[in-house]
Amino acid sequence: MEAKIIIKYFPILELKDAPEKGVKKTSLTYTDDSGENEITIFLAALPEGLIAFSAVCSHLGCIVDWNSKTEQFLCPCHGSKYDVNGNVIGGPAPAPLERLITEIKEEKIFVGIKI
Ligand code: FES
Repeated sequence: MEAKIIIKYFPILELKDAPEKGVKKTSLTYTDDSGENEITIFLAALPEGLIAFSAVCSHLGCIVDWNSKTEQFLCPCHGSKYDVNGNVIGGPAPAPLERLITEIKEEKIFVGIKI
């Protein structure tokens, strides 16, 4: 039997607080069957629109941070680097940062989380 993936939407930011350029860090606390979870999310204002990235490094799961001077996401654990699109540009990370599904409703930005 296949496991069923359920995507639930959670509000992360008022639309008026969304970045007009660059990257903004935010967090989300939600509860699922495993209990309370807190995750870090980056919202990037890209030419294609507002994109939400999971902050979980694709190497071993550390939390990346955004460096506005170099305009890169940097992982403190083993030095992986990602560009503003979440693509790997250095280090051992095997895959880009995960893009989260976003939705705008009632002047709020929601992200879809697999639970
Ligand atoms: S966990 Fe990010 S580089 Fe290893």
